[in-house]
Amino acid sequence: MVFSKAKTPAPTASELDMTRIPAHVAIIMDGNGRWAKARHLPRVAGHQQGMQTVKKVTIAASDLGVKVLTLYAFSTENWKRPSTEVNFLMQLPIKFFDTFVPDLVKNNVRVMVMGDQAALPAATQAVVQKAIADTAHCTGMVLNFALNYGSRDELVRASQQLARQVKAGDLQPEEITAQTMAAALMTAPLGDLADPDLLIRTSGEERLSNFMLWQLAYSEFVFVDQHWPDFDGESLKQAIATFQGRHRRFGGLKNQ
Ligand code: FPP
Repeated sequence: MVFSKAKTPAPTASELDMTRIPAHVAIIMDGNGRWAKARHLPRVAGHQQGMQTVKKVTIAASDLGVKVLTLYAFSTENWKRPSTEVNFLMQLPIKFFDTFVPDLVKNNVRVMVMGDQAALPAATQAVVQKAIADTAHCTGMVLNFALNYGSRDELVRASQQLARQVKAGDLQPEEITAQTMAAALMTAPLGDLADPDLLIRTSGEERLSNFMLWQLAYSEFVFVDQHWPDFDGESLKQAIATFQGRHRRFGGLKNQ
């Protein structure tokens, strides 16, 4: 008789353990362009639809009890795209916050942004700052947009900040630790929740694209084939179910 190893069936979204919802979920929202191309639409139509998905997934994550949802909206490398597309992407936060802040407030969601805001168009900066101010009193989920964000840029800036502290005599080189490093990163305001528990990337690509290289050191990665505009609350639940089927060891042993 041949004994084959029983495979654990993939957990389904309907079997979610509500006591083990990942506190910080980060998403690389990929595939807007391919979604549009498949429909013979201009690429920006994919971004427009992607914005609607952001709204749906924000509410779904908040309803599930996620504490931080970080979304990679624009990278430091995305400036290389054609100017019409860049301009459209810079307008998206304006369209998004102009219509969605009341829903965010209703759902007690606080907006945060990480990335080099100073390089964004003035109107984009203004709407982002207003959304942060208008939701500052919200105590529920943090919706953290990575906007003109790049992890290497973040690490370079953190290194420069620590070097300045050393030069000023406020810090000894041997006092630089994982903690001082984390405190110099753009996720520092998130405190204990800075590191994502779960990273999702849509559209079948399996790479990090300069996203949260430090913070993702022990995160679980879930790659899904759906393009971002097709992603929804059910897809989020399914990704969380997959997360719940993983055994996180953080470098230790399974049953420690
Ligand atoms: C990647 O798809 C997506 C982006 C670079 C932009 C992401 C932005 C959104 C989803 C909307 C953001 C909404 C707000 C509120 C700021 P891609 O264009 O690289 O797709 P492709 O790989 O299929 O070409």
